[in-house]
Amino acid sequence: MSRGPRDDPYLDVDRSGDPRGLAKLLELRGGQGSQAALRRAFLAFVGIRPGWRVLDVGCGTGVVSRALAERVGRAGRVEGIDPSRVLVREARRLGRAAGLGSRLAFRIGEGAALPYPDGGFDAAMAVTVLLHLPDGERVLREMIRVTRPGGRVAVLDQDFGTLALDHEDRALTRRILDAHTDRYYADGWSGRALLRHLRAAGLHRVRLRPFVVMETVYDPYTRSMLERRVECCRRWRLIDRAEGRRWLEAVEARARERSFFLSLNYYGAVGVRP
Ligand SMILES: C[S@@+](CC[C@H](N)C(=O)[O-])C[C@H]1O[C@@H](n2cnc3c(N)ncnc32)[C@H](O)[C@@H]1O
Repeated sequence: MSRGPRDDPYLDVDRSGDPRGLAKLLELRGGQGSQAALRRAFLAFVGIRPGWRVLDVGCGTGVVSRALAERVGRAGRVEGIDPSRVLVREARRLGRAAGLGSRLAFRIGEGAALPYPDGGFDAAMAVTVLLHLPDGERVLREMIRVTRPGGRVAVLDQDFGTLALDHEDRALTRRILDAHTDRYYADGWSGRALLRHLRAAGLHRVRLRPFVVMETVYDPYTRSMLERRVECCRRWRLIDRAEGRRWLEAVEARARERSFFLSLNYYGAVGVRP
């Protein structure tokens, strides 16, 4: 699943220099209306049922784990796992604050070496995780191992090759977005490859569904996403300071005219463990 060089703080959140900032960003993203709709649609597509025991790999601050806990109900159980101590601490705090403590637990750990016995979960999922990981295949194999035969293994990833932004400078926009997609993630095109990866991992009855997220308001999360792209391209010396500033100012101008537009395809894939 892995591609070019990487500069991605999600590979080691605790040593990224700003783990709390990343925790805030994950919650900001999770709070967007478009993301709440995406979560609902994805969990319905996977077919998570009341009473199920579900594993959320790369759970971060627990945005998806909390939605899962609502869905499995009092008889169900959700376990979130993430290598980041800071994110797991925040996930525990937010889970308790949401009153979901009894059906929701979090643990520190790596997706490629899950600390669970074989077949203990009805479903395992990873949401916007695999595109970041150079060893995504191993993580997927582990997710399959800990799921019971007949249970579901599901992945949701963005495909940054589909990021569409209405911008007056198309050439510069392509330069910034394409470079970021290719250099920042282990696989910025992960979404379109999920069907292939889940089949190659041996899952049965694999289904795939696109989910389009669209933003017409330039909110703080979307702003941080575009600013990060400019910062990276400057660090990689692909654009200079003036180009970056001009590019972001043109985005701000669209927002002031109330004509901001950004869309991004996510792809959800689910298969059955044989
Ligand atoms: C973009 S965040 C997604 C968090 C959460 N799934 C969500 O949708 O809000 C990616 C997450 O993957 C986690 N991660 C990084 N390396 C990992 C690994 N080897 N195994 C499992 N998770 C990992 C990061 O710590 C981070 O929480």
